[in-house]
Amino acid sequence: LALVGGRDDLRGIRAVVTAGGTREPIDPVRFIGNRSSGRQGVAVALAAADRGAQVTLLVAHVDDGVLAGAAGHSAIAIERVATAAELADATRMAASGADVVVMAAAVADYRVAEVADLKRSKEDAPGPHVSLDLVETEDILAGLVAARADGQTIVGFAAETATDAGELRDRGRRKRRRKGVDLLAVNEVGWAKGFESADNAVLIIDAGDQVIAETTGSKREVADALWDAVLAVRAQR
Ligand code: CTP
Ligand code: CA
Repeated sequence: LALVGGRDDLRGIRAVVTAGGTREPIDPVRFIGNRSSGRQGVAVALAAADRGAQVTLLVAHVDDGVLAGAAGHSAIAIERVATAAELADATRMAASGADVVVMAAAVADYRVAEVADLKRSKEDAPGPHVSLDLVETEDILAGLVAARADGQTIVGFAAETATDAGELRDRGRRKRRRKGVDLLAVNEVGWAKGFESADNAVLIIDAGDQVIAETTGSKREVADALWDAVLAVRAQR
């Protein structure tokens, strides 16, 4: 079978990719969310599938339009989740037996301690100030790293604000170390940078703290650069 302009270098790889942003409920009509569109994660899944991998794509609140290409791909199985806790369970399940796990999802750092069964009302809490009691969510990536099987490659993503390129790289290195991942893809974000756009710019940092790739381009180009980096670190072992 001829592959149209295709590489087949991920054939035999079982990959898990997470994409989108989790939402933590406050009450039946409100949630705490984030600006992740899921585009980069979906591009990572599509790139892998096009290169021969079998992909489980775990998505949190990704628009159907963004998901369209992946939804029709025979090598991609999609599973939808809502909260960080649901994503943690789904990722744990899918990751056992996977060769590569890429955590591109934006996972809420905190959830609401007591989710209200009924809509919160100003009648119950009058006054100009309210506070929500928040508790930390599970660090999914840390759990994956702690449970990592021999030969499994774990990749994290970090969206960071920084004042210059040096600070971005140093933040990325510190986070890579703190997370213990094999690779960390770092991209710069800001009020008007990094979200909902077709393009992305990332640094890829390896376990030796080296910046092994710097890519600017479409989210698909960034995804392909990431898989090149995954293959490079897997070849080193
Ligand atoms: N991540 C995760 N579980 C969480 C939070 C983050 O698995 N509860 C993953 C993300 O999917 C990403 C990586 O960890 O791949 C880095 O996410 P980031 O939010 O940058 O890391 P944090 O440790 O939450 O640091 P920060 O305080 O900068 O948000
Ligand atoms: Ca975070």
